[in-house]
Amino acid sequence: MAAKEFKALVVEEQDQAYARAVKTRTIDQLPAGTLLIRVAYSSLNYKDALSATGNKGVTKNYPHTPGIDAAGIVEHSDDPAFGTGDHVIVTGYDLGMNTDGGFGQYIRVPAQWALKPPQGLTLKQAMIFGTAGFTAGISVAKLGVHVPPDAGDVVVTGATGGVGSMSVALLAKQGYRVVAVTGKSTEHAFLKHLGAYRIVSREEFQNPDKRPLLQAQWAGGIDTVGGTMLENMIKSTGPLGVVTCCGNVASADINLTVYPFILRGITLIGIDSQHYPMADRLCLWQKLAGEWKPDVLDELCTEKILDELDACIDRMLAGQLKGRIVVNML
Ligand SMILES: NC(=O)c1ccc[n+]([C@@H]2O[C@H](COP(=O)([O-])OP(=O)(O)OC[C@H]3O[C@@H](n4cnc5c(N)ncnc54)[C@H](OP(=O)(O)O)[C@@H]3O)[C@@H](O)[C@H]2O)c1
Repeated sequence: MAAKEFKALVVEEQDQAYARAVKTRTIDQLPAGTLLIRVAYSSLNYKDALSATGNKGVTKNYPHTPGIDAAGIVEHSDDPAFGTGDHVIVTGYDLGMNTDGGFGQYIRVPAQWALKPPQGLTLKQAMIFGTAGFTAGISVAKLGVHVPPDAGDVVVTGATGGVGSMSVALLAKQGYRVVAVTGKSTEHAFLKHLGAYRIVSREEFQNPDKRPLLQAQWAGGIDTVGGTMLENMIKSTGPLGVVTCCGNVASADINLTVYPFILRGITLIGIDSQHYPMADRLCLWQKLAGEWKPDVLDELCTEKILDELDACIDRMLAGQLKGRIVVNML
């Protein structure tokens, strides 16, 4: 019997250039794994845009189907933890990096990468969060250990992006006074609607300043862009403040002295969602589905189909998207 066919976004390497197109693939072309999942929804993350454009730090071998997020229904399981028909979420691990990912209508993965969505969270909502929202959740959780909501202003960079917009919404839901930093002058109303009480322009925030410390303004911050903006965030955070760092869309380099750390006791926390332990994942998804779920969750989502993804990838790399792109794979 011929293997089942499905549609997937396939990125191919041709003379050191990368072309992507929606193609027909078959189940037997998928990698080995204990769970075969019919993907219902995926979502677009920055790493997918890198994988789709040939970034070898993300994906070594092509042809490849990106998509670090998938939510769907188990079609076949060789693991007793899951049965046919179970709803599952897979984010991170190697999905979409060097394992064919969620931009295909089917994925096959180790059962250890999957979890069942907590009550109160649909498959689509799981993908509105996706890796970006989950990363925002880790950032807010880690910041919240040291910085309570009444400690003062908390600043978020890349605020209209996936991780940024989710961070604004999650912090606001918990009662933090959120200052959003954005390069999009047209999106101030969007950010206020998510819960930001003040907006600062990216231009202002990314001004290089050689001084080792700047006037203390923040109780804490969530940085999603790296570079000068992360430097400025750390240098302008007040005593015992906490800054989290997860991304490098502006730059991977930071140039700092030790003074913010030894004179103000600043803590810099690195965020890695890919290898976040499964026990901690389950706890965080419970929170995201429950008391942390932003009232504006659905408004953060723009739904697309597979054929529309190509243009979204270019827009993401140009920093033009806002909120989250969810891909309907059905
Ligand atoms: N460590 C982890 O586990 C983890 C997980 C998820 C994501 N990430 C990383 O986090 C970063 C953000 O991911 P995302 O999904 O939120 O991406 P995104 O949706 O594309 O958002 C990035 C936002 O950053 C701002 N921006 C774009 N170009 C910029 C530039 N040159 N300088 C300063 N700001 C710029 C824009 O927001 P404004 O226009 O509002 O300024 C943009 O919307 C990426 O580097 C991604 O790889 C890491």
